[in-house]
Amino acid sequence: MRTKVAIIGAGPAGLLLGQLLHAYGIDNVILERQTPDYVLGRIRAGLLEEGTVELLDEVGAGSRAHREGLVHEGVELAFAGSRHRIDLKALTGKTMMIYGQTEVTLDLMNAREAAGLTSIYEAADVEPHDFDTDHPRVSYVKDGVACELTCDFIAGCDGFHGVSRASVKPSAIKTFERIYPFGWLGILSETPPVSHELIYSNHARGFALCTMRSMRRSRHYVQCSLDDHVDQWPDERFWDELKRRLDQKAVDSLITGPSIEKSIAPLRSFVAEPMRFGRMFLAGDAAHIVPPTGAKGLNLAASDVRFLSHALREYYDEKSSAGIDDYSRRALSRAWKAVRFSWWMTSILHKFPDQGEIGARIQVAELDYLVHSRAATTSLAENYVGLPY
Ligand code: APR
Ligand code: PHB
Repeated sequence: MRTKVAIIGAGPAGLLLGQLLHAYGIDNVILERQTPDYVLGRIRAGLLEEGTVELLDEVGAGSRAHREGLVHEGVELAFAGSRHRIDLKALTGKTMMIYGQTEVTLDLMNAREAAGLTSIYEAADVEPHDFDTDHPRVSYVKDGVACELTCDFIAGCDGFHGVSRASVKPSAIKTFERIYPFGWLGILSETPPVSHELIYSNHARGFALCTMRSMRRSRHYVQCSLDDHVDQWPDERFWDELKRRLDQKAVDSLITGPSIEKSIAPLRSFVAEPMRFGRMFLAGDAAHIVPPTGAKGLNLAASDVRFLSHALREYYDEKSSAGIDDYSRRALSRAWKAVRFSWWMTSILHKFPDQGEIGARIQVAELDYLVHSRAATTSLAENYVGLPY
């Protein structure tokens, strides 16, 4: 089989790239290791920047997000027993949208199917080859049969554990990593949200976050130990711990209920440089990971594929390599700023094992400064709603 762009991975990065390329008349094939149901079963964050929603609109996959997504004009920070609202809309003119990553993925899958584009799910042993030549190809096994996809370019959209980044020779890539000394325990429940906006809480017992998927479904997180296991966290213990980390008003409006999903996620900052290796590009989690505190993971995947799709359009329509030559620099420049922001949000909101009392006091002083300084609040708001592309 032959295509212009072979996309490895059918997560949000691969699916969105596929639709953008299709819109620009560039044919592409997606190879995905898992089944569609498996991909849709992964529960991830759900906060979209306006720029991400615009990309969904551009590929005709945004209508359900506009119908069902919740537009948020502000966000709340809780610390030292009280809550402070940051008016994102007033400070930046922009809003955020709550719309689960699962829904984004489903809408993009449906758009791809409607456009009749080829996606090969359950593709085993996917491997990119010869991307340092003009004739790259991807080998894989489907239903026990060895197959090959020849192409002009390979897009590695296969997440943090994917094969694309792993195929690059070590001397050609540099990676940067920080692993945080705690995790997030998250639960999903069929209960109304505590408040109509998100609450990020700094507390002596650790961080907590109240978020949502809809007006009937809540998502809550508490900072936990990396050694913890979900079995140690029956629902009752989770709700008790969450209540201890929230202000009284939030506790009074918290409606608890049985969890329908519960998981622990580690927190990591990771960047691979560069994001282009000859005729192979990395995009999304394959190239960088941010801790979820700034809600940037999915939005960064979206900005990467926007840069990449424009670069490839330039290559095919204008016969110019300028865009693909500049892809890595542009994508990394935006990614590093989100890495910085996500690290900073994580550092002011979590309890670190070695921070001591002085560290806790300094965090509260920073948060207090933050919510009372227009300059500092604006800086947070600008980053939270997403930096310009
Ligand atoms: N062969 C084929 N497909 C693979 C391989 C492989 N060897 N390895 C991984 N994949 C697939 C995974 O099964 C997954 O469906 O690549 C896809 C990668 O998707 P994501 O992990 O969702 O990554 P990405 O599309 O970059 O999305 C970024 O997802 O992880 C969150 O926080 C992150 O929200 C952000 C978003
Ligand atoms: C979520 O809704 O799951 C979510 C929202 C904001 C974050 C992280 C996760 O910062």
